[in-house]
Amino acid sequence: MQLFLDSTDTAVIADLAATGLVDGVTTNPSLIAKSGRPMLEVIAEICGLVEGPVSAEVAAVDAEGMLAEGRKLASVAENVVVKVPLTRDGLIAVRDFAAEGIMTNVTLCFSATQALMAAKAGATFVSPFVGRLDDHGADGMELIHEIRTIYDNYDFDTDILAASIRNPAHVKAAAIAGADCSTIPPGVFADLIKHPLTDKGLEQFMSDWAKTGQSIL
Ligand code: E4P
Repeated sequence: MQLFLDSTDTAVIADLAATGLVDGVTTNPSLIAKSGRPMLEVIAEICGLVEGPVSAEVAAVDAEGMLAEGRKLASVAENVVVKVPLTRDGLIAVRDFAAEGIMTNVTLCFSATQALMAAKAGATFVSPFVGRLDDHGADGMELIHEIRTIYDNYDFDTDILAASIRNPAHVKAAAIAGADCSTIPPGVFADLIKHPLTDKGLEQFMSDWAKTGQSIL
C-alpha cells in the first residue's frame, strides 16, 4: 500500500520524507489556505521533496475552467496529479486529462456509484472520504470494500486512495480492504510507527545492555 501525506506543511513533509516511507502527497484548497502561501509555489516545493504523485486541486467548478487550471498545475512538475471534484463537470475534465496523459485524482467521493463513474472517466486515483462518512453516521470503510469489489470485477486501473483518514485504525482497515493508497495527516503518519510496548521493551533492553558494560563497536 502506498502512503501519502495529506499536508501542505513543507517542513513536516521534508521531515517525514526523510524516512523514505512517504510515497506521495495530497493537498486541497483548505490545506493551501492553511499554508498561507501561493499555491503554485507550495506545489512546486512539495514536488521537489517527494518523487511520487503530488495532488493539486483545481478551484474552477466548470469543465473548461478545470481543464485550464489543471493544465497549468500539471506544468509545475512531472509528478503533479490534478485533483478534481467528483461532479459531472469534473468527470468531463478527467476524460480530457486522461487523453492528454495528465494524471487525475477524483476527490470528494462518497458512494460506490460515484467511484464507478470516476473509473469509467479514466481517473488515475479516486479518493473516497472515509472519516467524513464516519462523521456523517455512515461506514466509511465499507465504501472502500465496495469500490475494491467493483474495480476488481471489471479490471479498472483506477487506484483507490483512502482519504479523510483520522487514525492508524483507519489505515489498517483500508489496507485490509485493499485500498491501493491512503493519504494521511502527518500526526497519524508518525503514529503508524509507534507502539507503547516497543518503547517499554526498548527501555528494558537498553537498561540490561548497560549493565553488561559491553560495546559492539
Ligand atoms: C483528501 O484528498 C483530502 O485532502 C483529505 O483527506 C480530506 O480530509 P479531511 O476530511 O480530514 O479534511
